[in-house]
Amino acid sequence: MKLLTVVGARPQFVKASAVSRVLRKTHTEILVHTGQHYDRNMSAVFFDELDIPHPDYNLGVGSASHGRQTGEMLIKIEEILLREKPDAVLVYGDTNSTLAGALAASKLLIPVAHVEAGLRSYNKAMPEEQNRVLTDHISHFLFCPTETAVGNLKKEGVTENVYNTGDVMADALFHYREISGRKFESVGLGALNPLFENTSNLNNGYILCTIHRAENTAGERKLENILAALEQLPLPVIFPTHPRIREQLADLQKKHGYKNIRFVEPVGYLYMIYLASHAQKIVTDSGGLQKEAYLLKVPCVTVRDQTEWVETLHGGWNILAAANTEDILQKAARVRPDEAQWRACYGGGDAAEKISRFLSASL
Ligand code: UD1
Repeated sequence: MKLLTVVGARPQFVKASAVSRVLRKTHTEILVHTGQHYDRNMSAVFFDELDIPHPDYNLGVGSASHGRQTGEMLIKIEEILLREKPDAVLVYGDTNSTLAGALAASKLLIPVAHVEAGLRSYNKAMPEEQNRVLTDHISHFLFCPTETAVGNLKKEGVTENVYNTGDVMADALFHYREISGRKFESVGLGALNPLFENTSNLNNGYILCTIHRAENTAGERKLENILAALEQLPLPVIFPTHPRIREQLADLQKKHGYKNIRFVEPVGYLYMIYLASHAQKIVTDSGGLQKEAYLLKVPCVTVRDQTEWVETLHGGWNILAAANTEDILQKAARVRPDEAQWRACYGGGDAAEKISRFLSASL
């Protein structure tokens, strides 16, 4: 069977690495990279360290407004679909690359398989929510990470070809956790040395933070409030920065001279897992990182009004905070998980196997 996979943004490389490894044992896969993420440390690094096959097509779409970016992808993906004539198209998650891949395929009546289907924040102002709702409703196969996601689809009348496979990001984490540990065991936080003058005070514990969502970074105010909280946390904060806020951060750093926050360039997946597993706490607005925190049993504060990964909230492992200084500080002090309430709710690391089997049986 010939499958065509569309990826474009950092978390999709991680998800596709887990699925491609399994799919390619029995199927032919054509890999299309839209070029939505293009910086070396947002893209190539992931292909190298996760051993992802080189993309068959790189569309080089890059950054633009949502409409232009999605539109350019749509035009280029359609051309490739007409040439390659795949049996199905695989898309991941909720980015503009996901929607473009799904829409191009659906218009040509090629079945779309959506991996990470059924997640909802019920906040339609988020570009991700728009992308995932639209993609789910034009997909033929809906591979859900959780029972909650299956239930969300049911509420919208989507019940056919809906499978709870478990989460492919859990597959990736289980697969790479040990590899990451072995790789960074001896160097540890020293890998940050070229970036900091001195990492010694991090050895007594640190908080890992990532913030990049449009809802927290559009305009200066919210980001400034979040940083004010990080500056007052009782442990130093390691903050790998997304390029979209590089300039904003530089301006705010000049204005406030943060001392407790250590901004570093984005790190690869393997080092991110290392940093996450050794952190005292995590503060983030990333869907992937809040779930990795849960799977690694690290307490997490998610700076958002809602989460699609509601299971992480059970037992207080993850707690939501508004983008305001007091709330983040309060929640960071409060996040104290109950070990007894941790549940293995994201599958056993075999989501990719299930996806491959469902596709083989149905196409
Ligand atoms: C996208 C996804 C988001 C996901 C995130 C993962 C959408 C709508 N959003 O957000 O759901 O959580 O990826 O990281 O698809 N930039 C660079 N270099 C890069 C990539 C981006 O400098 O390699 C900068 C550009 O200024 C660009 C901005 O980041 O305009 C935003 O990039 P974009 O791909 O539009 O969205 P993300 O914020 O990365």
